[in-house]
Amino acid sequence: MIYKLFGVNLYIIAKMNHKIIIGQAQKMSVIKDSSIELVVTSPPYPMIEMWDGIMSEQNAEIKTALENNNGQLAFELMHLELDKVWAEVERVLILGGFACINIGDATRTINKEFALYPNHSRIISSFLKLGLSNLPNIIWRKQTNAPNKFMGSGMLPCGAYVTLEHEWVLIFRKGSKREFKTDDQKKRRQESSFFWEERNVWFSDVWDFKGTKQKVSNSVTRERSAAYPFELPYRLINMYSLKGDTVLDPFLGTGTTTIAAIATERNSIGFEIDNSFLDIITDNINATSKEQLNNITALRIEQHERFIKERTEDVSKNEIKHFNSYLKLPVMTSQEVNISLSTIEKITQDNATTFTSTYTNALPVNNLEKKKAVKQKELFV
Ligand SMILES: C[S@@+](CC[C@H](N)C(=O)[O-])C[C@H]1O[C@@H](n2cnc3c(N)ncnc32)[C@H](O)[C@@H]1O
Repeated sequence: MIYKLFGVNLYIIAKMNHKIIIGQAQKMSVIKDSSIELVVTSPPYPMIEMWDGIMSEQNAEIKTALENNNGQLAFELMHLELDKVWAEVERVLILGGFACINIGDATRTINKEFALYPNHSRIISSFLKLGLSNLPNIIWRKQTNAPNKFMGSGMLPCGAYVTLEHEWVLIFRKGSKREFKTDDQKKRRQESSFFWEERNVWFSDVWDFKGTKQKVSNSVTRERSAAYPFELPYRLINMYSLKGDTVLDPFLGTGTTTIAAIATERNSIGFEIDNSFLDIITDNINATSKEQLNNITALRIEQHERFIKERTEDVSKNEIKHFNSYLKLPVMTSQEVNISLSTIEKITQDNATTFTSTYTNALPVNNLEKKKAVKQKELFV
C-alpha cells in the first residue's frame, strides 16, 4: 500500500506479529525447535517471598520445604522448575541466538539464620550445563529508596550485611557467533545497527536507568508484578537481535517485552502462567500509543543529532567522515550508514491473544513534543 504524506511516498515496509500464550513455560511445545533468535526475560526470583506461592503451585514440595524451614532445599526445588524452562529456551533458540535473563539474588532469614540465595550463579550453572556460553553479564544498579538501610547488627562489626542494590542481566549464547549469510540477513543487520555513542552506553557492564524518560505502563501494575523497566528489554532487543527476528519472553508478566518488541520492529511470543495477567497484558499494549513508541525512536535520533553537533563543534576531535542518507545525519562509523528506524503505523489487536504492528518507511518524528509545543503556542496566542 502506498500513500502520500506531505508529498512523500509512504509505504508499509513491515508487519510484526505478537502472540501471548497463557501456559507454563516448562512446556513451550507450540514453539518449534531452533526458531527463536532472542530470549529476554525475568523469571520469578527464587526465595523472594512474593514468588513463594506461584513457585509452590508448580511443585508442592517447595511449600513443604518452606514450611520445614529448609531454605536450601526450597531454593534448589525452585531452580529445578526454572531449569525446565531453560531447557526449553535452549531447544527453541537458533544457533547463535541469545538468552538474556534478568534476575536478582535473594536474602532471607530462615530459622533465625540470615543468608544469601545466589540465584544468578545457580542460573549460570544451569545454562552452562545445557551447553550455552556465558558472555559478559550486566549489573543493573537499581535505584534504591533506602540507600542507607542497614542489614544485621548496624554499626557493630561482624554481624552486618551489605545491602543488595543491584540485579543481574545474564547473557548467554547458543553455539558460536550467529552467521548472516543471505542478502536479506545482511541488509537487516545493517539496518538494525545502533549509534556509536549508544554502543558506548549499552555495552557497559553496569547499567543505571536513572534518567530514563520513557514510562509505558501503569505504575500500580508495575509494583504488583515486579515488571522491569521498558528500557531493559528495549536495549537488549536492539543489542542482540535484528529487525524482523522473533523475541521470546517465557515469563511475560505485564507484557513489557512485547511492547519493547513492537517498538523495535521485532515479532514476539510471550508465555505467562497466570491467566489473570492476560487482561493486564492486553490493556498495557492497548494503552501504549504508537506515538509513545515512535517518540522513543525520534528521541534517539534527536540525541544522536545533539551528539553530532557537540562533536562537530569540538575542534580537538577529528572530522566525522560518514553519513546516513536515510536519517540525513552524519554518523561516526561506516557500520551506521544504513541504520533505518521506521515508524509504527498501527498496532492492532487481532484476537484475545494476538497483536499485529505495522511499520512505514517514514522517519519517526517526536509527535508528543510537537503536540506539547503546539499547545504551548496556543496558550501564548
Ligand atoms: C518477574 S515476573 C516478570 C515481569 C515481566 N518482566 C514484566 O515486565 O512485567 C515473572 C512472571 O512469570 C510468571 N510465571 C511464573 N512461573 C511461570 C511459568 N512456569 N511459566 C510461565 N510464567 C510463569 C509469573 O506469573 C510472573 O508474571
